[in-house]
Amino acid sequence: ETKPRIPVIWLHGLECTCCTESFIRSAHPLVKDVVLSMISLDYDDTIMAAAGHQAEAILEEVRETHKGEYILAVEGNPPLKDGGVYCLPGGRPFVDKLTEMAADARAVIAWGSCASWGCVQAAKPNPTQATPVHQVVTDKPVIKVPGCPPIAEVMTGVLTYMLTFERLPQLDRHGRPKMFYAQRIHDKCYRRPHFDAGQYVESWDDEGARKGYCLYKMGCKGPTTYNACSTVGWNEGVSFPIQSGHGCIGCSEDAFWDKGPFYER
Ligand code: SF4
Ligand code: SF4
Ligand code: F3S
Repeated sequence: ETKPRIPVIWLHGLECTCCTESFIRSAHPLVKDVVLSMISLDYDDTIMAAAGHQAEAILEEVRETHKGEYILAVEGNPPLKDGGVYCLPGGRPFVDKLTEMAADARAVIAWGSCASWGCVQAAKPNPTQATPVHQVVTDKPVIKVPGCPPIAEVMTGVLTYMLTFERLPQLDRHGRPKMFYAQRIHDKCYRRPHFDAGQYVESWDDEGARKGYCLYKMGCKGPTTYNACSTVGWNEGVSFPIQSGHGCIGCSEDAFWDKGPFYER
């Protein structure tokens, strides 16, 4: 409570804004406590009231007054083709804004699968050359928090860890915080006993579906997907895709968008 709030600059490139939609629903900690007491969210295209030149001027101000101190949070990614003209926030290529702000940041957080891997806008043939953040920012730690979107409490949990311990969370070889991405959905899935027993849903709404059997034969990607959905859950832990009767589509994995089909039948 006595620590100064850490400045956070939150940039938006090619994306759909649902990572922010997820973030603002965090319950533990409450997002209002994160934004009002833990960080100083000095810039966020989506949720700030300011706009225009005055808003853009904040970026330069933070760079000068908090050099090497602020966290750069990035939602979405830069398209590199044709000089970056396919994403022009504030009238200039997003890639320029990103590299400028990354240069003086303490660390960079790549929110979601867009920033971490490229996501649907990078789907083959990737016409705008949408490129994940770590391929553009190469001289700073980039903490990947993938998912489409990531779980709200995973996002605020990563921030809380960084602010509380004043260090980066331990990352796996892909740059994901181990505390949330060390296990596969399949490892902690409550339908796992059915998988082990060979009890599968064979078609939508069959007897097995009504009994909550394993969704592997319906294309569930839980066995190859690293995320916290089966432990942390969504909407304050109320549910997650598999609990709602739908297999995991692997939304936190690299290239999930090109690894279809999502439905086997
Ligand atoms: Fe939207 Fe998914 Fe990209 Fe987040 S990762 S901005 S939810 S498309
Ligand atoms: Fe694994 Fe998916 Fe079956 Fe769960 S529903 S046990 S994650 S294959
Ligand atoms: Fe995504 Fe699979 Fe979780 S689709 S939301 S990683 S269960």
